[in-house]
This record gives sequence, C-alpha cells and structure tokens, in this order.
Amino acid sequence: MHEHFMRRCFELARQGTGRVSPNPLVGVVIVKNGQIIGEGFHERHGGAHAEPNAFKNATEDVTGATLYTNLEPCCHTKKLTPPCAPLVIEKRIAHVVICNLDPNPSVAGQGAEQLKAAGVQVTTGVLEQEGEALNEIFFHRMRTGRPLVHLKSAATLDGKTALPSGESKWITGPEAREDGHRGRLQYDAVVIGAETLRKDDPALTIRLPGFTPERMPFRVVLTGSGKLPAGAQVFKDDFRHRTLVVTGPDIKIDSLPPQQVVRLSTLAPFPFDEFYNKLAEHGIYSLWLEGGAALHSLFLQHKQVDRLTLYLAPKIMGEGRALFAHTSTALQDLLLLDRLEVQTMGADLKITAKMN
Ligand SMILES: NC(=O)c1ccc[n+]([C@@H]2O[C@H](COP(=O)([O-])OP(=O)(O)OC[C@H]3O[C@@H](n4cnc5c(N)ncnc54)[C@H](OP(=O)(O)O)[C@@H]3O)[C@@H](O)[C@H]2O)c1
Repeated sequence: MHEHFMRRCFELARQGTGRVSPNPLVGVVIVKNGQIIGEGFHERHGGAHAEPNAFKNATEDVTGATLYTNLEPCCHTKKLTPPCAPLVIEKRIAHVVICNLDPNPSVAGQGAEQLKAAGVQVTTGVLEQEGEALNEIFFHRMRTGRPLVHLKSAATLDGKTALPSGESKWITGPEAREDGHRGRLQYDAVVIGAETLRKDDPALTIRLPGFTPERMPFRVVLTGSGKLPAGAQVFKDDFRHRTLVVTGPDIKIDSLPPQQVVRLSTLAPFPFDEFYNKLAEHGIYSLWLEGGAALHSLFLQHKQVDRLTLYLAPKIMGEGRALFAHTSTALQDLLLLDRLEVQTMGADLKITAKMN
C-alpha cells in the first residue's frame, strides 16, 4: 500500500520537471481511511512546497491522516518558503511516509527527527531507489557540490555523428529526437562546442508536441577562438537572453552583451570548477552536453561526465566523424561505464549509462 501512494507522489513530483531547479522534484499525497484526500507538488522554484499545496487541496479534515512524500519534509528557515515539518505537525498528521531523506545538510534527517519528537509516526525508505533516480540531479549536487553532467549524442550504428563534411541533421528518427528534447527539459543548460554552432546552427530549444515549457534551458557555447556566426539562431531567437558564451579572458565576443559572456581565467587546462561556479551565478546547476566530439572528449577525459545517453540509428556511415575525439593508448585506460540500460526508441536504440 505504501508503494502505491509513493508512486503517486512520483507522478505528481514529475510535473515540476524543468520548473523547480535547483530544488528537488517533490510530490505529496494525504491519505485517510485508505482514500486520497489531498495531493500537491512543488510547482516552481520560489513557489510553495508540495506539503502546503497538498493541504490546500485537501477535500476533508486532515487530522490523523497519513502523509506520503518522496522527500523528507524540510525544517530549515534560510529559504524562500516556510519549513514544512512544523506545518505537518500543526495539521496533526499522524503518520508520515518518506521515500528519501533530504541530503541537503540543512535538513539531513532533522525534518524526520522533528516529526518524531512531536509524536508523529515516521516511516522512511519506501521505494528509495526510484526516488533516487527521480531526483538524481538534486542528490548529485547535494552530495558532491558539483552539477550533474549528462552527455548526449546521436550516431550511426558504426559510431559516426556526422559526414566528413560535418553534416549531421538528422541521423536518428523523430522518436529519439523527441526523447532528447525531454532530456533537455530536465537540465538547466545545454552545452555545445563552437564547431557545432558553426556547422549546425542548432536552436537547442525544447520542442515537444502539445507542450510549452515554462522556461527554456540556457544554451552555453564554448569557444577559444571567439569565431561565432553573429546570425546564429541562439543569438537571434526569442530566447537569446538565455544564451551564454564561455571563453578565455581576452577573447573578443560581439554576438552577445557582456553580461552573457562568461570569462574564465584560462582555457588550458580547462578550469572545470571555475566554469561550474560561474555558471551557478546564472542559476545553472546541471548540464546537458550536446556535442560535438571535441567538447565531449574534453569532459570525458577529465572525468567530468556523470551520465551518458547515446541514440544509435540502424545505419552505417563508414568514413565520418567519430563520437569522441580523444585517443586511448592502453586498454587499461579506456573509460568505463556502469549500469547500462538499452531500449528501443522508434527505429533507433537508446543506451543510457553512468560513467565510472
Ligand atoms: N550527431 C550528433 O549528435 C551531433 C551533435 C553535435 C554535433 N555534431 C557534429 O559534430 C561536429 C562538431 O564537432 P567537433 O568535435 O568538430 O566540434 P565541437 O566539439 O562542437 O566544438 C569544438 C570547439 O569547441 C571549442 N572548444 C573545445 N574545447 C575547448 C576548450 N577547452 N576551451 C575553449 N573552447 C573549446 C573550440 O571552439 P573554437 O574553435 O571557437 O575555439 C573548438 O573548436 C559537427 O559536424 C556537428 O554537426 C553531431
């Protein structure tokens, strides 16, 4: 029974995708006499948490009810909204069922302790693995202090991403491309190398049938030369204020106002920590890398990639551009993947994995 209501919490939580970052996705269900009497989720960053939303939507008195939530109710006050554990106590909830404890050091079990101290029964760890997957981006940042970096690429079955001329649109089918847009939605920024901008002029927006995102992810272009086509879509379209160019200290960039140019102290060696910190100043806490090979290899070789998604089309190109640009010289130095999952996506294969 606990699992059933927790799955409903996950469904509700997912509705906040693309809107709550850097906060976690949270859904809450209030149950009395086996029936759901209130539901809510965290709808947007800065907005009410899932608990007050569920109380607001409750159709009857919640006294003595069980509250299900996929994340431990918060108890800290240094944030935009009031803490939820005292509210749960005030509403005289009898039992709180939690999927994951909040790794945020300001909570970290203290929310659950506060509830217990007030005489509320607390159950934790229900569908813990599913909850971890749902909030992978949030948990990763809380535990490591780094943004989750997700590398996505599309290739032919023989691992080629573009013709020798550089042409690459489109290798995979519409289902895989749509799935890629759903991936983008979860991240604060889509990152590309300047050569992909020059060759493809991608929009890097989210285009999903019947869905208008409340917020587009940032588009981040990495360049050492500053040679960027001024007429590129990312500099001209309606979301151009959400485009950033990342470059070195002295490179001239004319395509964007200075506040959209992120200047790093050096580009070689690439200062990843400085890069992440400067992106965080723009509210970017998770990255979706979309190519090309040079950008991907830069992140892979420095062990900066956490997760990988590869779409493989049932096509063979032969001579063409490889997925990655680096060279391995010894078999024991190959980059290793973990937790490989494979599914079909239209005519294509989708492979996801974690980097070791
Ligand atoms: N099939 C797919 O999924 C897919 C996806 C994306 C791209 N592609 C294809 O991939 C090709 C482009 O890939 P690519 O490997 O040639 O290039 P890329 O990775 O897109 O871009 C390389 C450029 O990024 C910048 N850069 C890389 N490392 C840097 C660093 N440490 N500091 C500063 N800037 C840095 C440099 O820009 P500057 O030269 O300006 O210094 C470099 O030339 C295109 O043909 C595109 O169509 C395919």
